[in-house]
Amino acid sequence: MSDLYQVIYISMATKMMSEQDIERILDQATKNNLKTDITGILLYKSGLFMQYLEGTRIAVKNLYTKIKNDHRHTSLIKMHEKPIVERVFKNWAMEFRHLNDINSLLNFDAYLRSHIDDTAKENNRETIYNFIMSFDQRN
Ligand SMILES: Cc1cc2nc3c(=O)[nH]c(=O)nc-3n(C[C@H](O)[C@H](O)[C@H](O)COP(=O)(O)O)c2cc1C
Repeated sequence: MSDLYQVIYISMATKMMSEQDIERILDQATKNNLKTDITGILLYKSGLFMQYLEGTRIAVKNLYTKIKNDHRHTSLIKMHEKPIVERVFKNWAMEFRHLNDINSLLNFDAYLRSHIDDTAKENNRETIYNFIMSFDQRN
């Protein structure tokens, strides 16, 4: 039986990330995720991360705990978690997008507000979920 699970979290980098810093994270992520069969996407803009993880429930939970303790970012907020029947990003061990178009900015505004207050967080859960799903590989 497949026991697939998805998680979306947002976080703040503890310093501005250079391309090299991002590369280092992605190298680690890709290497590990291929082993643990985790797939997903990492978004970054102006010191803010958003990441979508999918895989078996246990693999996702273990990875989330590991990522949460990583000092390269802080203030993690879990925006979404749910069992799923099918992967959305099944060929992406960890896709990366550095966001800079207008559309992304609008959604990132919602994201920023989520860091500031709980009401905004509740209101923005769906926006953030839909934003991640707009990168759906199957589209
Ligand atoms: C924003 C962010 C996203 C990360 N994403 C992943 C990931 O998808 N997979 C992963 O294995 N590590 C990821 N990491 C790195 C982990 O926190 C951790 O440093 C790494 O898994 C340790 O790898 P190791 O056990 O091979 O030393 C991420 C770190 C950050 C800051």
